[in-house]
Amino acid sequence: MSTLDIVGLCGSLRTGSLNRAALNLAGASMPPSMAMEVAEWREIPVFDADVFAEGYPAAVQALRDRIRRADGLVIATPEYNFSIPGAFKNMIDWLSRGEDQPFAHKPVAILSASPGPLGGARVQYDLRRVMLFVNAMVLVKPEVFIAGAAAKFDAQGQCTDETTRKFVGDQMKAFEKWTGAVKRMA
Ligand code: FNR
Repeated sequence: MSTLDIVGLCGSLRTGSLNRAALNLAGASMPPSMAMEVAEWREIPVFDADVFAEGYPAAVQALRDRIRRADGLVIATPEYNFSIPGAFKNMIDWLSRGEDQPFAHKPVAILSASPGPLGGARVQYDLRRVMLFVNAMVLVKPEVFIAGAAAKFDAQGQCTDETTRKFVGDQMKAFEKWTGAVKRMA
């Protein structure tokens, strides 16, 4: 059986991001049939339809191609002002343009981490709504909200909380099954 190629996207650009640590935990928790590579999107410019009319900027084209090749996506994102971080939404907006946009029919798992008590619950429902529009196939459950995250990862980004490790591991097991199911449906 060939390994499922999973792309990881982090909604935060911050060095020391809790969501980057959560994304790395997801990658490390995957069953042996899956392997994750984190894709960077820092170079993507602000969306401008006039620029789009001239073609995709190189960073947009590269990420579109990388995601199109992938068997699935794992997204770990912070919540900003109860919603999706603007720069991250801008990246999704760029990729969503064009008939061959790469999110279509792509299996997606979402998790979020926050120092706050809800673990980014609100951003996940906004992101699910956006992913609906682009025809992505988002795993429904288990949901993973990592609340009080600053106390659950150490300075090296390693998760020190056994319950969190179990939740993320269970989500990745479910995501493996979901990715297989979506592939069979295609
Ligand atoms: C936040 N933060 C935040 N947290 C939350 O749980 N709900 C929210 O609505 C917000 N809003 C918000 C807005 C902005 C502009 C910033 C910069 C931050 C706090 C946020 O969860 C915290 O900074 C995280 O550590 C950010 O994620 P990373 O960078 O650690 O992955």
